[in-house]
Amino acid sequence: MGRQRILSGVQPTGNLHLGNYFGAIRNWVEIQSQYDNYYCVVDLHAITVPHNPATLAQDTYAIAALYLACGIDLQYSTIFVQSHVSAHSELAWLLNCITPLNWLEDMIQFKEKRIKQGESVGMGLLDYPVLMAADILLYQADKVPVGEDQKQHLELTRDIVDRFNHQFGKGKKVIKSPEPMIRKDGARVMSLTDGTRKMSKSDPSELSRINILDSADEITKKIKKCKTDPIAGLTFDDSERPECHNLLTIYMLLSGKTKDEVTAECGDMRWGDFKKLLTETAINSLQPIQEKYAEVIAEKGYLDEILREGRQKAAEIANQTLEDVKVAMGYSLPM
Ligand code: AMP
Ligand code: TRP
Repeated sequence: MGRQRILSGVQPTGNLHLGNYFGAIRNWVEIQSQYDNYYCVVDLHAITVPHNPATLAQDTYAIAALYLACGIDLQYSTIFVQSHVSAHSELAWLLNCITPLNWLEDMIQFKEKRIKQGESVGMGLLDYPVLMAADILLYQADKVPVGEDQKQHLELTRDIVDRFNHQFGKGKKVIKSPEPMIRKDGARVMSLTDGTRKMSKSDPSELSRINILDSADEITKKIKKCKTDPIAGLTFDDSERPECHNLLTIYMLLSGKTKDEVTAECGDMRWGDFKKLLTETAINSLQPIQEKYAEVIAEKGYLDEILREGRQKAAEIANQTLEDVKVAMGYSLPM
């Protein structure tokens, strides 16, 4: 049997932060040699909230360059841009027509984001999870590595698969049900300014997140200002101390140490000393990624070539699935 297939993606909206890194990309890199991997930059998802046309293309490139800088290896993985493979939009339409509206209205992310958009909330925001299902199903992905916040979207994807195969499969599995891959540590990195809220690209405060491309000065400033508590000693897993848990977890992930090692090292520290350690560790561990990023982004021709090849490889698989789906639904294919 061949390798199992993985698909995942990140939206080109704003800078990638430590949540994106530990929830998603770092895990992609760690497991890539065992799978056949497809990583896309989901630029069609990026327009489900108001976007800036002047920066969309550039932001898309930046994410692709970051994938490479973080260690995605083309020997194992294919990198491509969602909008370059038109099958994504087409399958999303077909799946729209079999997805009950109330499944979409129940999605937590939709409910949260629609509040921010008010009256002008677009149809695309409601439809976001169907497009995500199309991304995954086109590649018949076995596994989808994501952060905790995407779990509900994956359950919806599995429900769509069951419904589709039941209605149109005639006993066959035309599309494959994917499994979520959500790691315990780092699946939900919290904000630096409020340990009960997720670190997020859309938080209006820059101080709430550390971005992968932040300079040493920015990282120093953000950690200096981050929220702590007045209790002596540092500890994981105290529900009264969400900031303490989050900062220790971030340190654990950045340093590559175990929870026990971090507890032994930091348990008796004062906040001031811990912040110094965390700052140094963050700067040192992000530096190699930042250096690689600068190299990749400077060579636009190289990135263009990678995305062109990625598109070809992705489209081949995606178009085959799209054909199978259309035939199952009763369409005749063009001669
Ligand atoms: P997005 O920034 O929404 O495109 O998310 C890209 C990936 O990062 C997805 O797999 C998310 O689940 C993951 N992610 C986003 N924010 C966080 C966070 N605060 N903690 C862990 N994972 C996250
Ligand atoms: N919705 C995901 C997020 O914001 C991004 C995404 C789009 C995705 N399509 C996907 C993730 C397919 C995994 C697989 O985090």
